[in-house]
Amino acid sequence: MRTPQINLFKKSNPIKAKLIRKERLTPEKGKGKRPANEGESAIYRITLSLDHSAYPYLIGQSAGVIPPGLDPVKVEKGLPDTTYAVRLYSIASPSFSFGKTQDNIEFVIKRDDVYDENGNLLHKGACSNYICDLKEGAEVILTGPAGKKFLLPLSDYTGDLFFLATGTGVAPYFGMVEEILEHKLIQFKGNVYLIYGAPYSDEIVLREYFETMEKKHSNFKFITAVSREEKNSFDGGKLYISHRVRELANEVSNAISNNGRFYICGGPKGMEKGVIEEMFKAAKSTLSYEEFKKDLESKDQLFVETY
Ligand SMILES: Cc1cc2nc3c(=O)[nH]c(=O)nc-3n(C[C@H](O)[C@H](O)[C@H](O)COP(=O)(O)OP(=O)(O)OC[C@H]3O[C@@H](n4cnc5c(N)ncnc54)[C@H](O)[C@@H]3O)c2cc1C
Ligand SMILES: NC(=O)c1ccc[n+]([C@@H]2O[C@H](COP(=O)([O-])OP(=O)(O)OC[C@H]3O[C@@H](n4cnc5c(N)ncnc54)[C@H](OP(=O)(O)O)[C@@H]3O)[C@@H](O)[C@H]2O)c1
Repeated sequence: MRTPQINLFKKSNPIKAKLIRKERLTPEKGKGKRPANEGESAIYRITLSLDHSAYPYLIGQSAGVIPPGLDPVKVEKGLPDTTYAVRLYSIASPSFSFGKTQDNIEFVIKRDDVYDENGNLLHKGACSNYICDLKEGAEVILTGPAGKKFLLPLSDYTGDLFFLATGTGVAPYFGMVEEILEHKLIQFKGNVYLIYGAPYSDEIVLREYFETMEKKHSNFKFITAVSREEKNSFDGGKLYISHRVRELANEVSNAISNNGRFYICGGPKGMEKGVIEEMFKAAKSTLSYEEFKKDLESKDQLFVETY
């Protein structure tokens, strides 16, 4: 059985990687479905060259990135350490990488920018913009791997897997789908449901890959929830991933009773509550909501990584 390695590289002894590919996954500003007064959603697939034997991660773990230079906010405050804090990014490539080479690691990263009500840029995220601006060949300083819970089953497994994502929360599922269905590192019997929410249909990234996987594997279902284009069938409001969970109440209830696992990833922080409430209703549990949640976590059936 594989075990996760934690924090092999820290801020004081990081590892260097090199950017080998950068691909923008969402439309340029003003060219997609997002109206101009809502700013921009700039999401990139970032590929770094990094030897997996030097950095032995499991899919579901994250890597830390240290932007170079000094953090102007810390400088202004006169703090003793003015270097940037580490930012975590979910690793998006399977542990035996895409293309089955052991020397690449991938991420799905969004420029974390803030816009005013007219769509004008107010604030730029430091680390996400640093990464998304990098050119081919640039060096990146990493820490990690981080996280030891948000992992696929580590040994042979029977049960359904529900992967729930909003926004860049889809990142770890890119590699998880590849690893469980294509690389088959463990024996797996069950269905995989990817339920993925984004504001606009052209901000559902990696769609082509997931649709190809759905055609290839009859046990993989790819379900989207496009909040600002589609309405839910329950109250006619925005369609969220929690509504998709309600639509699948029978499958969800069956998975809860039969060792199924639920992974929830993305933002906004707290969005997991709506999803877990739907799971709670589907299960018709006699426990309280809090006990239900704790019970699933203790049985390795619920994993949450929201940010
Ligand atoms: C476990 C984990 C996994 C993650 N995985 C991913 C992932 O796969 N992909 C991904 O894209 N992100 C991911 N994140 C988020 C990531 O770690 C960063 O938080 C994100 O990129 C923002 O960092 P930043 O340095 O760009 O923004 P920061 O500079 O830290 O700024 C944070 C926010 O504040 C805003 N801001 C800056 N200055 C001001 C100001 N003066 N007033 C108001 N607002 C301001 C910025 O625009 C930004 O929205 C993950 C987080 C965690 C914890
Ligand atoms: N890298 C990052 O992107 C990053 C980093 C740190 C923090 N965050 C935070 O994460 C949040 C999402 O940002 P994002 O850009 O990653 O994603 P995004 O592309 O905006 O997608 C998030 C999706 O989740 C929906 N949603 C909102 N509330 C929900 C809820 N309670 N339950 C289910 N779905 C819900 C949104 O709908 P509507 O928006 O239409 O309501 C949208 O469709 C923001 O609050 C952001 O500040 C993001």
